[in-house]
Amino acid sequence: MQGSDGRSAVGAAMPCDAAMPRDIEDIGSNPVPVDPIRQVLGRRLARRAALRGLIGATFAGVAAQSWAQGVNAGVRGAGASTLGFRGLPHGTGPGEAVAEGHEVQVVIRWGDPVLPGAPAFDPANQTAAAQAMQFGYNNDYLDFFPLPKGGEGEHGLLVVNHEYTNPELMFAGLGDARAARLGTSAAQVATEMMAHGASVVEIRREGERWAPVAGSALNRRITAETPIRVSGPAAGHERLRTSADPTGALVRGTLNNCAGGNTPWGTVLIAEENFNYYFGGPGVETGAQAASYKRYGLVRDAQFPWGRHVPRFDVASEPNEPNRFGWVVEFDPYDPESIPVKRTALGRFKHEGCTHAVSADGRVVIYMGDDERFDYVYRFVTARPFDREDPARNRDLLDEGTLSVARFGDDGTVTWLPLVHGEGPLTEANGFHSQGDVVIEARRAADLLGATPMDRPEDVQANPVNGRVYVMLTNNGSRTATRTDKANPRANNIHGHVIEIVPPRARGGVDHAAPTARWETFLMAGRPGSDPGASYHRAVGADSGWLSCPDNCAFDSKGRIWIATDGAPAAADVADGLYAADTEGEGRALTRRFYAAPTGAEVCGPLIGPGDRTVFLAIQHPGEERGSTYDKPSTRWPDYAEGMPPRPSIIAIIRKDGGTVGS
Ligand code: FEO
Ligand code: CA
Ligand code: CA
Repeated sequence: MQGSDGRSAVGAAMPCDAAMPRDIEDIGSNPVPVDPIRQVLGRRLARRAALRGLIGATFAGVAAQSWAQGVNAGVRGAGASTLGFRGLPHGTGPGEAVAEGHEVQVVIRWGDPVLPGAPAFDPANQTAAAQAMQFGYNNDYLDFFPLPKGGEGEHGLLVVNHEYTNPELMFAGLGDARAARLGTSAAQVATEMMAHGASVVEIRREGERWAPVAGSALNRRITAETPIRVSGPAAGHERLRTSADPTGALVRGTLNNCAGGNTPWGTVLIAEENFNYYFGGPGVETGAQAASYKRYGLVRDAQFPWGRHVPRFDVASEPNEPNRFGWVVEFDPYDPESIPVKRTALGRFKHEGCTHAVSADGRVVIYMGDDERFDYVYRFVTARPFDREDPARNRDLLDEGTLSVARFGDDGTVTWLPLVHGEGPLTEANGFHSQGDVVIEARRAADLLGATPMDRPEDVQANPVNGRVYVMLTNNGSRTATRTDKANPRANNIHGHVIEIVPPRARGGVDHAAPTARWETFLMAGRPGSDPGASYHRAVGADSGWLSCPDNCAFDSKGRIWIATDGAPAAADVADGLYAADTEGEGRALTRRFYAAPTGAEVCGPLIGPGDRTVFLAIQHPGEERGSTYDKPSTRWPDYAEGMPPRPSIIAIIRKDGGTVGS
């Protein structure tokens, strides 16, 4: 969330930090001091930002009708942009809105059947067995794998992460968010566990309508109980062994899967983010691993106190169970029987996403953000090039390679610092006895190497057209003027910013594996003209196009960026949404608002569909606001039916005339 003026922050749950209430606000757990670079200017900015925080909330005072009129009166951006749609005006509204000429379709909702034989959704009679066969909660990452494999048509497998649950909106009679998390029964927790993980759903566009293919044998649910193999340097490590798994190599489930990515060999990567929220009890504060638990944000009173019903989430019972989460999980979406794998070589932290680029020499580079205030940007470079001819040879490519963390120099240089056991400070003297120790405590290793603490790195993604890597920095209301640097230049950075990493060119392409790169600023979010430092294309005005809290991104085939936001503070007076902009040329950073989310929701998983004819979005936690409950939700999106709670859902946005979106 954004600090004292967080919009949905005041509300209910939770881990997509924008929406966290004060009681569980993620304040960052990195104690590393940063050299002060800015003094006078930074302090002045901080003072002004603090004053701005007093403005207070002006939430959703607009009636539906006037909101629609506002949309129709939308703003046509300056002619410099290659985008052809009129941006939505700045503002909030009670429901969703999309740029004119486009249509929103709901593809699949929480509770809809996924596996063959799954029961229809019955919110008043939920069971873990039913949920295990149905679409999970709080959809985040989205990906699309064509059918047939390698095809280019509008038929394929939609892969969706289910990050976390809002029990106050899932179940009747539990009260507000905190009360609900403390009051869930064993059966309800079991249902929540089945609502986590991921879904694979066969979908198809028939005419102008996207819909699931009912009962597809390719559909799959992965949950908090699915067996998952561990590979890489931490596999079998003594700190991964538990009473249920003395091998330390077979974990039950995956948790808090936020964003993700894919590989050039056709597998998907789903990233475990705020895994700390599930582990608690007095064991967190004692024992040999207490400092490590603290660095990863574990607390005695877990945000999701599942340990009341499931012993493995009580740290005193299973001190190593938390070490089995916080990883990137790879699986083959085309094979519903395949066993997912936690790839520990990619490090353990609060992974937002894990996107890939193929470097000029054929090695695969995975870019990753650790979504926490003052945490880091990482990359992993495979030891060998991937094999285009023989996909089977790539099966374990992510087990060998070099994990590095970024230092963003004030001179515009990015230096990638390798996390390699035995090198620099990563030695026995500092408690690192193996590469397994280094990846299990990747955050501490990165601290010792002198990485640059960032303003909540979320998606880090290469633009396939211009080769630049875009880093979404959501916000950091805790950065003070004495902790600013050039890459994180604003104190009290409540709106966030986007920076570009520019790797060097090499024969055959972009050298994503080079030891250094340059970095530049793409945009500084906030309202131009009044938020200190806000900076975009000059044609972005105070009334349109400006954004707050960039979180996830995608690129269309022209290399234009689509930015989803999460957690715009009340002072921004804007619903979370999706924005598009050119990355090159006259229209660079001329952001336009394409979609506005329903109340309480954030927008995740932007995915540009085949032929640029669809934008898929994951609408997460609709109705997650203070006082909003199952019994009295702030919205019943998307069904708007009495008795039906709000339902996190995947939407497809198409152009009504069948053309390419945004053109
Ligand atoms: Fe699911 Fe870091 O947001
Ligand atoms: Ca987020
Ligand atoms: Ca996110």
